[in-house]
Amino acid sequence: MSVDHNPLRWFRTASPYIYAHRNKTFVIYLGAGALSSDSLPNIVQDITLLHALGVRLILVHENSGSIVVGPQEPEGLPSVTRDNLSDFIGDAAATSQRLIAHLSASPATDFLRSSEMVTLSGNFVRAQPLGIVNGVDQQHIGKVRKINSAALTKALEDQALVVLSPLGFSLTGDVFGIDAITLAREVATAVEADKLIYYLDQSGINNQDQQRISELTTNTLDPSSWPEHRALLIEARLAIEAGVSRCHLINQKQDGALLQELFTREGCGTQIVGESSYQLRQAVAQDISGILTLITPQEEAGTLKKRSRELIESEIDHFVVMTLEGLIIACGALYPFDQFGEIACLTTHPDYRDMNCGERVLQMLIERARSLELEKAFILTTQTAHWFIERGFEAATVEALPVAKKSVYNPQRNAQIYIRTLA
Ligand SMILES: CC(C)(COP(=O)(O)OP(=O)(O)OC[C@H]1O[C@@H](n2cnc3c(N)ncnc32)[C@H](O)[C@@H]1OP(=O)(O)O)[C@@H](O)C(=O)NCCC(=O)NCCS
Repeated sequence: MSVDHNPLRWFRTASPYIYAHRNKTFVIYLGAGALSSDSLPNIVQDITLLHALGVRLILVHENSGSIVVGPQEPEGLPSVTRDNLSDFIGDAAATSQRLIAHLSASPATDFLRSSEMVTLSGNFVRAQPLGIVNGVDQQHIGKVRKINSAALTKALEDQALVVLSPLGFSLTGDVFGIDAITLAREVATAVEADKLIYYLDQSGINNQDQQRISELTTNTLDPSSWPEHRALLIEARLAIEAGVSRCHLINQKQDGALLQELFTREGCGTQIVGESSYQLRQAVAQDISGILTLITPQEEAGTLKKRSRELIESEIDHFVVMTLEGLIIACGALYPFDQFGEIACLTTHPDYRDMNCGERVLQMLIERARSLELEKAFILTTQTAHWFIERGFEAATVEALPVAKKSVYNPQRNAQIYIRTLA
């Protein structure tokens, strides 16, 4: 997929994402492949850049040595035993320390004044033994009993970058090895993360034609369709069902995959989301900048009437917005006048047109007008008459407008009037 190499243009298109991701919590999983790949320094550099942009981060890593805890096989023998436990713990500690060393060395920390970029590890994961499974003693394989989410949240609030190894600690003082893919999901769920990001050895999930699937929804996702990623997809689905906003699968070998996935509209991996990633809702004060960014080009083009920030601030209760990943991609407003409701400022970002966004915003405004028991909806438009005609609006004259609107109608703009009965 092509990347925009013009830095100015790239930065401009990335800026809404920078704003949207700030103060959000992301959990990032690094598997053995990522840890041993040549790209690790670049991956770590991208992670520190995210941290510098105000994203709260927890890294969960697998071990990089040969003893790894994977998804539980029926009747499988334990990989972490009484005999090799100290090797497993040693590998976990060494891998964490190696990651921390990379994090401390990354150039992206320079402007953070590296002494302030604190990483934190600790006994955040309470574990219990898996016990005997199908007659086989799983010895030092454990499962998560509890995540100390309060302590993790505090660490993130204090701007620490948390590094978790695949270890859990029991009340009896024992140490257990935990499947890091599951651990990442448990941590993401416990801290109510906004994103759970898994590095894979390919660019997301492909369809039968080997084309990347950019988005999968949990209601259509069938993990058994991708046997090699089955365990991971199950965890991703569990995470979304437990409230994590979205899960991303990105390629550990692709330079800058994390940044491309998070700061471009097209992304470069696969994101897994709940039923619909589009949200339609009442606008709130925090949406004002996003609304202005959306409507200003339309105002400049003359398709929408000019509105100041102050005006939108005072009229924000009239607006509804449609968002995608926290970005406002469409909006509209309803202004009641006696028994009429004016539909105004209806616009969809050019990148998201012809995807029914305008229709859905209009529907919400019409429903709102109906709930206010208004009898008619009207619009004033210069270039979108047919769009409204196709949605039940009929041409009318200034005389048909409510008195309060008639008195402020600007004949110089020569907007056409269309009215729809709501009954
Ligand atoms: C009008 C607008 C809101 C539609 O947004 P949208 O999200 O693309 O709307 P939808 O996806 O629901 O509808 C798309 C359909 O409308 C058609 N359409 C888009 N603009 C149109 C126009 N000016 N006149 C007639 N049809 C139009 C599209 O071709 C598409 O048709 P299709 O069903 O054959 O695919 C959007 O084009 C826009 O923001 N325009 C500039 C602002 C504006 O003029 N607003 C109205 C003033 S209040």
